[in-house]
Amino acid sequence: MSIVTDPRGFGRVAVLMGGTSSEREVSLNSGSNVLEALRARGVDAHAVDGIPALVGSLVGSGGRKFDRVFNILHGNKGGGEDGVLQGLLEALNIPCTGSGVLGTALAMDKIRSKQVWLALGLPTPRYIRLAKGSDVHAAAKSLGLPVIVKPSCEGSSVGVSRVFNDADLDAAVELAARYPGELLMEQLIEGQELTVGILGDIALPSIRIVPAGEYYDYHAKYVSDDTQYLCPGLEGEAEEEIKKLALEAFHAIGCEGWSRVDVMRDKAGKFYLLEVNTAPGMTSHSLVPKAAAQVGIDFQTLCWKILETSVE
Ligand SMILES: Nc1ncnc2c1ncn2[C@@H]1O[C@H](COP(=O)(O)OP(=O)(O)O)[C@@H](O)[C@H]1O
Ligand SMILES: [Mg+2]
Repeated sequence: MSIVTDPRGFGRVAVLMGGTSSEREVSLNSGSNVLEALRARGVDAHAVDGIPALVGSLVGSGGRKFDRVFNILHGNKGGGEDGVLQGLLEALNIPCTGSGVLGTALAMDKIRSKQVWLALGLPTPRYIRLAKGSDVHAAAKSLGLPVIVKPSCEGSSVGVSRVFNDADLDAAVELAARYPGELLMEQLIEGQELTVGILGDIALPSIRIVPAGEYYDYHAKYVSDDTQYLCPGLEGEAEEEIKKLALEAFHAIGCEGWSRVDVMRDKAGKFYLLEVNTAPGMTSHSLVPKAAAQVGIDFQTLCWKILETSVE
């Protein structure tokens, strides 16, 4: 059911993309797809590159050029997935798609997302926060190899390494430390990789990702065409269970509107939450559009429904 039936009901829409995060290029790609889809549906949508440009068009003499924002920035800081943009728009009383300050800020920080999930008894891989100067070899020993090392606040598998041998630990930590913010080391879950799109208050069918290479790295995400995507990713009870878990994880950290929840499933069938992406990709390789298509929601309708999440 549609909340808005006439595209004029959305007013003038800024499709906010690009920015300065490590995911700039992906965001520009997502953004141009969203822009095209909204325009095809008659929405008065316009591209805006980055938060400073948006601010320029909202405040000052020529101000308030937009009635709402479709946020498709990916990443933290110059990205728009970490609460900064959400706080700014809330203060200006300009509606925006997706989660608010709390949900985006918590979702951007993998360590803090895990702390909330653990407090609520939701499953996530065991982990250790790697403070500056901490003994990474002792950390790996206590988790047990293999482990995964990643920055707490990046995306697109940037700075993520799998470590099977103690000798490779230092290089993994060095790579992750090139990115701002804290680092974490996680128990590596061997098994299936899944992701669940959330739209409104509904979990879309899961997608199982089967990369041709070793794992779902940056190349597999955006470049390679041999990654397989199976949707739905699971059957029967397991599919129901992962959808329920994804929705719980999403609500636990205060998310709203839409998201994509990344989950691992070990060989025994146990699920582990990895992270929530509050402005997931909308490129031709992206997963939320694939899951939506599985339940008959085409790309234009998906963009419309996401835009509706900005309507009170
Ligand atoms: N604990 C883990 N066990 C197994 N694989 C993992 C684990 N954490 C991350 N990965 C792999 O690394 C990829 C990126 O990790 P993720 O936590 O989703 O960060 P982001 O997508 O923000 O870079 C995942 O898609 C998955 O392939
Ligand atoms: Mg991920």
